[in-house]
Amino acid sequence: MKLYTILAAITAVSAHAIAPIAPRDDTATPNFGYNELYELQTTFWQKFQYPNSLIEAQSINSTVFSEDVQGRVSDTRDFLGRELNTEYIFGLFGGANGFSIVGVPGAFEIVQFSAQQNIAAASTRINFTFPSFGNVTYPVRIDTWITWNAAKQITQYDVVFRWFGFLLKTLLTSGDPTVSDADKLAKLVDVTAKSICGTHQTYCNGTNTQYASSDQCYEFLTKEIRVGESFELGMNTLLCRSIHEIMIKYRPNVHCAHIGPSGGDMCDDKIGYAQKVDDPLYTNSPWIPTVYS
Ligand SMILES: *[C@@H]1O[C@H](CO)[C@@H](O)[C@H](O)[C@H]1NC(C)=O
Ligand SMILES: *[C@@H]1O[C@H](CO)[C@@H](O)[C@H](O)[C@H]1NC(C)=O
Ligand SMILES: *[C@@H]1O[C@H](CO)[C@@H](O)[C@H](O)[C@H]1NC(C)=O
Ligand SMILES: *[C@@H]1O[C@H](CO)[C@@H](O)[C@H](O)[C@H]1NC(C)=O
Repeated sequence: MKLYTILAAITAVSAHAIAPIAPRDDTATPNFGYNELYELQTTFWQKFQYPNSLIEAQSINSTVFSEDVQGRVSDTRDFLGRELNTEYIFGLFGGANGFSIVGVPGAFEIVQFSAQQNIAAASTRINFTFPSFGNVTYPVRIDTWITWNAAKQITQYDVVFRWFGFLLKTLLTSGDPTVSDADKLAKLVDVTAKSICGTHQTYCNGTNTQYASSDQCYEFLTKEIRVGESFELGMNTLLCRSIHEIMIKYRPNVHCAHIGPSGGDMCDDKIGYAQKVDDPLYTNSPWIPTVYS
């Protein structure tokens, strides 16, 4: 009896040590299983593909996302709520009217995939065409973690553009080999600033006005802030404002501030490295399965 008690205690201790997390009461988390999750993942990329993305963008509140969706895209910021995510995920890619480093997503192939319960981790290769770079096409590798709710809506996503710095450099130095990289960068700064200032002129009037004139806008964007490195698309940079420029046509009152001097809490230097790493963004669903089978 005594021996049994000791053995039971040892077993309990080792079982506890082995279990990845304590069991929890989590009946709200659906259990789709691998095949269904693969379908959900595939459906998401099909909707992301241009021009399907425009259909979602036009819906304004895409039901691909839950109302309270929480998202993060590497090298930019966190994106909360359905409307904002409809703009950033479906409106951004293929929605550029002016000059932009953002490409248009085409054919895709899911190359790595693992999934359990309501969570999928995938790595997908997508062919992007870049209209502002002579329609050059590059494959882009996007790593995603996604959770879905019982209504099969995305409740959380965590997205990394793999080798993004390499992609950006490749893009910025693409084109005419007789033009130096420095000249290419100078040209990029010029056309990007002109594009942003043109968008500001068209959409950001009244209380949404950020710059007193196009000249002031151009001066600020080309002289007072940095162009930005690959990890600075959510910082006080020209490239950050270039990304957000695309959103302005959807809701000027929300997005004009992002291209202005303040950056409107999307393009500023308020978030340091450690804060970025420790960001406790996700609360909608566990990222570790609670059902093991
Ligand atoms: C989109 O959803 C938001 C938040 O629920 C709401 O305020 C807005 O009116 C909706 N827009 C449309 C066009 O349905
Ligand atoms: C992407 O483009 C390359 C080069 O044209 C092609 O070989 C590849 O099959 C394309 N990828 C997909 C997923 O279609
Ligand atoms: C890029 O492709 C689009 C769509 O096919 C076309 O409208 C545009 O003129 C092309 N741009 C260049 C620079 O070739
Ligand atoms: C901007 O101009 C448009 C068109 O004249 C007008 O409808 C809108 O109310 C203006 N926006 C602001 C914030 O003043």
